Amino acid sequence: MRTIMLMNAKGGCGKTTIATNLATWYADEGKRVALADFDPQKSTLDWLEARQGYEGIPDIQAIDATNGLIRPAKETDVVIMDAPAGTHGKAINKMLLRVDTLILPVLPSPIDMRACNRFLTELLNNGRVSKHQTRIGIVANRVKEHTRIYHDLEAYLGHLKIPFITHFRESQNYIRSAEKGLALFELAPAQVYKDIILWDPLFDWLKV
Ligand SMILES: Nc1ncnc2c1ncn2[C@@H]1O[C@H](COP(=O)(O)OP(=O)(O)OP(=O)(O)O)[C@@H](O)[C@H]1O
Ligand SMILES: [Mg+2]
Repeated sequence: MRTIMLMNAKGGCGKTTIATNLATWYADEGKRVALADFDPQKSTLDWLEARQGYEGIPDIQAIDATNGLIRPAKETDVVIMDAPAGTHGKAINKMLLRVDTLILPVLPSPIDMRACNRFLTELLNNGRVSKHQTRIGIVANRVKEHTRIYHDLEAYLGHLKIPFITHFRESQNYIRSAEKGLALFELAPAQVYKDIILWDPLFDWLKV
């Protein structure tokens, strides 16, 4: 069973948005997917509830993991885990015990970049990360391409030892899809193709 966690101690960087979209992508591929929500805000569970009104879209199992426990159904292929903001210290170690891949979203903003730096120091001290049992990749989110701050973020991420996988654009498509309980991949292709192509490097990285 594959276990992928979205984590960054900084709030609002896109953990839930990326978790729900990634879960849908795997489910569209025919995988049995569970979405485990560790956040007391329960945003992924809200999203799954909004999703229930549709027919003909793939099923995603909901796991309320706010008590720290996950019990996916038998034969689950992928568990996508949405971590809460403010995860630090021993809580990181506890959460990573069950994670083979960690995706860390970062926003192009000086506050977020500084917070990311501190969070990475904590992550790199984790035993599973230093032993390469948990693989980390960074994605930039809510990017306005051709802005100076995004170029600063690219330069910063380019110097890290951790791979910088891709960037996602600042786009209303994420907000529109989320409010309907859908993913980017479930909106009209003509509307979302510019956002979708930016996911390819992440899918390729996850396949390795
Ligand atoms: N690429 C994007 N373009 C536009 N809006 C986005 C994008 N990614 C996320 N958002 C919006 O930014 C807000 C924060 O995103 P999200 O809830 O996914 O972050 P989070 O890291 O899970 O936050 P929290 O730390 O509170 O759990 C949401 O309103 C979401 O719709
Ligand atoms: Mg969230």
